[in-house]
Amino acid sequence: MIIKTIFAIIIGGFFSANPITENNKTISAETIDSKTLQPDGKQLFLLQCASCHHATRDLIGPSIYAVRSRWTNKNLLYQYIRNSNEVIKKDAYAKKLFIKWNKTVMTPFPKITNAEIELILNYVDSEAKRKGLM
Ligand code: HEC
Repeated sequence: MIIKTIFAIIIGGFFSANPITENNKTISAETIDSKTLQPDGKQLFLLQCASCHHATRDLIGPSIYAVRSRWTNKNLLYQYIRNSNEVIKKDAYAKKLFIKWNKTVMTPFPKITNAEIELILNYVDSEAKRKGLM
């Protein structure tokens, strides 16, 4: 009986808390934080950017922490993330970066909002701060 109870507690604990939260995120492929019901910068980053970018080191593309200090014009940065090609044509820094990264084309994200971009960049910066890089 006691053993059965202990077993039930362990199994119950295992299936309750964490996996359910995880499922909400993965199954729906949604980017909403289940606690705050706000879009979650980490999820947005993992789903859309992490195939090419690591928060704090170079991968297919450069690390993107502290990127807001490299781009003085925020609107241009937003535009770049929505469609880098357009900005490469008119901005010297973007052009240089494109050449430096062997003309690898970054996926356009025409539907991403400025707010979502800010959440992603806040997340990467928080990772960099956690590692003492910022
Ligand atoms: C297919 C790969 C790929 C994906 C996916 C991708 N990027 Fe990029 N990104 C690159 C590459 C490569 C560069 C370097 C410049 C170039 O080659 O055009 C870059 C450059 C950047 C830069 C400029 C960095 C700097 O130093 O100024 C930012 C900002 C950026 N990406 C943000 C993002 C964000 C945010 C996402 C997700 C929403 C994303 N990228 C998704 C490949 C990618």
